[in-house]
Amino acid sequence: MNVLIIGAGGREYSIGMALKKDEKVEKIYFAPGNGATDMLGKNLMISDFNELADFCKENSVELTIVGPEAPLVEGIVDLFEERGLKIFGPSAQASQLEGSKIFMKNFLARHNVPTAKYIETDSLEEAYKFINSLEATIVVKADGLCGGKGVIIAQSHDEAKEAAGEMLSGNSFGDAGTSIVVEEFLDGYELSVFAICDGEDYVVLPAAQDHKRLLNNDEGPNTGGMGAYAPTPLVNDEIYAKLDTRVIIPTLEGMKNEGMPFKGVLFIGVMVVDNEPIILEYNVRFGDPECEEIMPLLKSSALDLFYKGATNDLKSLEVEFHDKYAVGVVMASKEYPYKSSVPAEIIVDDIYHEELDGNAHISYAGVTREEDGKLYATGGRVLVCVGLGDSIAEAQKRAYLLVGQVHFAGKHSRTDIAYQAL
Ligand code: AMP
Ligand code: GLY
Repeated sequence: MNVLIIGAGGREYSIGMALKKDEKVEKIYFAPGNGATDMLGKNLMISDFNELADFCKENSVELTIVGPEAPLVEGIVDLFEERGLKIFGPSAQASQLEGSKIFMKNFLARHNVPTAKYIETDSLEEAYKFINSLEATIVVKADGLCGGKGVIIAQSHDEAKEAAGEMLSGNSFGDAGTSIVVEEFLDGYELSVFAICDGEDYVVLPAAQDHKRLLNNDEGPNTGGMGAYAPTPLVNDEIYAKLDTRVIIPTLEGMKNEGMPFKGVLFIGVMVVDNEPIILEYNVRFGDPECEEIMPLLKSSALDLFYKGATNDLKSLEVEFHDKYAVGVVMASKEYPYKSSVPAEIIVDDIYHEELDGNAHISYAGVTREEDGKLYATGGRVLVCVGLGDSIAEAQKRAYLLVGQVHFAGKHSRTDIAYQAL
């Protein structure tokens, strides 16, 4: 089968790697892909959805998998399905779970899914009133997609009011911020839980923990994610059971009953407070870098998982995972996350290390292949070094051994990924 993967990150690279293990997969195409996905398949410089659909028809692409949220919110799934193509991801309507925080919060409230106390508003007066009724810390969120930057954790009432004012006036996030959510701060530990959904049935993947802050000990500014590991021992069976009955099942039933069945990856941002999972947010796609750790843990076919997810057939699937742990360490470019950096050649030591043989690999993200055939670091998060092991400590050791073999000017990474589990 020929498969198309939409996206350009380490997430899409790791999906490509997982698909490659299945003999049923013939050709893999990436649109647009990155400088390294050409090692797994062919990169397409097509961005128009209709032209992509033409390509799929002309090249017998039987499944398309969508990595990032933007094309989902823009309706790529609707267009492909209208044209009779199979595609894994939610419709534009269902993607509002990520595309609009107000939609998501109101949906959670309608279906009694536990979430932080909140209001949605476009009135500064109302925002102030609610802010005054809360104790600091207070969270202020822009409604629309802001590339992960639309959430302000305000330490004081004044800071919360200022953030609300800046958003509502359109100063901080333009139209994406002219409606906001103000909510109480939840103090607990954060998990990323992924459910592969086909509209009715679902498969929960091993829970991951992401490290969003730039620096060790979760200090410094927020980033897209500096590393992650899975499965996390911070989730027990009781929490998984609560997620099933209080979160995933009501969400899938609710979406179906409201006429927008959810198909694709439901990314559940969970805060566990006193052993209770409370929902921070939904995303409608895999987390990045979480996907890079979860994909290698999949023992059964990734193709079957996505194909059956796309064709409402998960019921017939037995999904198996390796009894292992994965730790992924992001190597970022010099100026990340502040601004873009000068391209830097990437050199990976060609040194055999028994420990790494079959137990570690690189998932490439912000890289470009230049005319000279070499790979250059050109994005913010350049690549992810993934280690696998029988324990988190072993997987972590291997990930960092690999980090030590990768060089480019200005590289930086955290040295404590998975610390909360050790
Ligand atoms: P979101 O885009 O809603 O996931 O927010 C980004 C990050 O802000 C989350 O991953 C959390 O770390 C943090 N966050 C969001 N909402 C809350 C909340 N109510 N309480 C504590 N932290 C939050
Ligand atoms: N790693 C978090 C995200 O992809 O949103």
